[in-house]
Amino acid sequence: MASLSDKLFKRGSDFLGVKYPIICGAMTWVSEPKLVSVVSNAGGFGCLAGGNTPPEILKRQVEETKKLTKNPFGVNVITIAPAYRQHLELLPDLKLPYVIFAGGFPDKKEIQTAKDTGAKVICFASTDSIAKRMVRYGADAIMLEGMEAGGHVGHVSLVVLLQQVLFEINEVPVFVAGGLATGKLCAHMLLMGASGVQLGTRFAMAEECLAHPKFKQKFIQANARDAIATPQFDSRLPVVAVRALKNKGMEEFSKLQLSLLKQLEEGTVNRNEAQHKVEEYWMGALRKAVQDGDIDYGSLMAGQSVGLINKSETVELIIKDLTTGIETELQNVKKILD
Ligand SMILES: Cc1cc2nc3c(=O)[nH]c(=O)nc-3n(C[C@H](O)[C@H](O)[C@H](O)COP(=O)(O)O)c2cc1C
Repeated sequence: MASLSDKLFKRGSDFLGVKYPIICGAMTWVSEPKLVSVVSNAGGFGCLAGGNTPPEILKRQVEETKKLTKNPFGVNVITIAPAYRQHLELLPDLKLPYVIFAGGFPDKKEIQTAKDTGAKVICFASTDSIAKRMVRYGADAIMLEGMEAGGHVGHVSLVVLLQQVLFEINEVPVFVAGGLATGKLCAHMLLMGASGVQLGTRFAMAEECLAHPKFKQKFIQANARDAIATPQFDSRLPVVAVRALKNKGMEEFSKLQLSLLKQLEEGTVNRNEAQHKVEEYWMGALRKAVQDGDIDYGSLMAGQSVGLINKSETVELIIKDLTTGIETELQNVKKILD
């Protein structure tokens, strides 16, 4: 007998070509071929992080991932990364089944460029207007991400975005992200119409994730309130906010913003260069934390869901816990309504 989950998984599973529409969101320095392939092999959907990776390395990572899994996976490109243009140029060569645009949002031509390579395109949206624009521009699916999420974030909570976007858009699948850590809540996202769910922070703590043990240990200890978003000091430097655990690195970022503002005033950098410097800072700081275990000055990007997770476990167990939690909750709901 088909489970209740199967019914609600159908749209997302068909779109992604996977058993479970449970996505391990791309995480720069974290989402490398091993983690991505383990997720896809366990029936979920892994995403390689384009980050600011030099094109030849990204190409090698895609080839490596293809060797490790026969199942579908996506590649995430960040529109505000200094390497973005190079990543776009690389797409025809990579022949990917799925491209995920994140960071900012792509223009219509960029979406078409990705689609022309045969890829299905998923676009991040952190506001209702971005979501609707991405659908108009030809996105095949939306990744609706609330401000609770880890990494680069918008300013609107998932609860509000669900009402503005998930309840309004039906022409393409809408996946949801930000603050999700339990099967129970994922079940309700599916009941509300989500085609699938994306988690980052919980997968960053997976045993197969190559992040430094000190990085994972910090996540295990952290409370939800420790994952804070960076402020924007001045509208002349419209940086995308980043949610991470508070540490000295977050203070360093404030100093960088002030210094860039001064340079903007003096005319020694323009806004575009300043945004690139900000991105370089984050990519470098995240590498320091993930690879070197510098938990003081590196960036500990994490969502508020960090407060819901207190152990490291295998990807297989994470996916099993989520799918079991989803089915159990759907059966509970059915009992209430019967
Ligand atoms: C350490 C870390 C790095 C991230 N890097 C990226 C990235 O490179 N590209 C991207 O689209 N999202 C990135 N994200 C966001 C995740 O893909 C995902 O959408 C988010 O973590 C979901 O929220 P959650 O952390 O509450 O599960 C990152 C998140 C974390 C925690």
